[in-house]
Amino acid sequence: MILPLVYYGSKLLRTKCAPILEITDEIKKLASDMVETMDVSRGIGLAAPQVGHLVRLFVLRNYIEVSEEELTLSDPLVYINPKLIAHTPQKILDSEGCLSIPGIRGEVERPLKITIEAMDLEGRVFVEELEGYNARVRLHELDHLNGVLFIDRMALRPRKKMEPFLKELEKKHQSL
Ligand code: CO
Repeated sequence: MILPLVYYGSKLLRTKCAPILEITDEIKKLASDMVETMDVSRGIGLAAPQVGHLVRLFVLRNYIEVSEEELTLSDPLVYINPKLIAHTPQKILDSEGCLSIPGIRGEVERPLKITIEAMDLEGRVFVEELEGYNARVRLHELDHLNGVLFIDRMALRPRKKMEPFLKELEKKHQSL
């Protein structure tokens, strides 16, 4: 089932999400609906608050390099109660967008490599070491679970430039 997306301006995107205490059938259904919603929206990551559920869950697909100029996407992955357990001090600047802030992209500095721990839908804990864009996607989604958006991490000047556009979005969606 495709779920309606929550957009910038909604308080749901600014709320710290609660841990998942039990992987119920509802959580499994939510995860599968989120994958469907992410795919139909042409996103590579989606966090539960973006579909109005304030729980610590996100889904994503990895970029896989097929050749130098061709990328493909992995099978969908589910992260329950994810935790950042380590990151390199080196950071890189790259462009990000968000399904909840349509029409905007911005440059965000993020750690180059991270180690993340989470649980899958069977309740198995796994640890991943990631680099580059695949690390970035997880950090972006993890931020969503804490009410943080990529625009909060942008440099002041480019952030200021998108202010009028954000104000418009906010007006449109704050009633939701
Ligand atoms: Co996002």
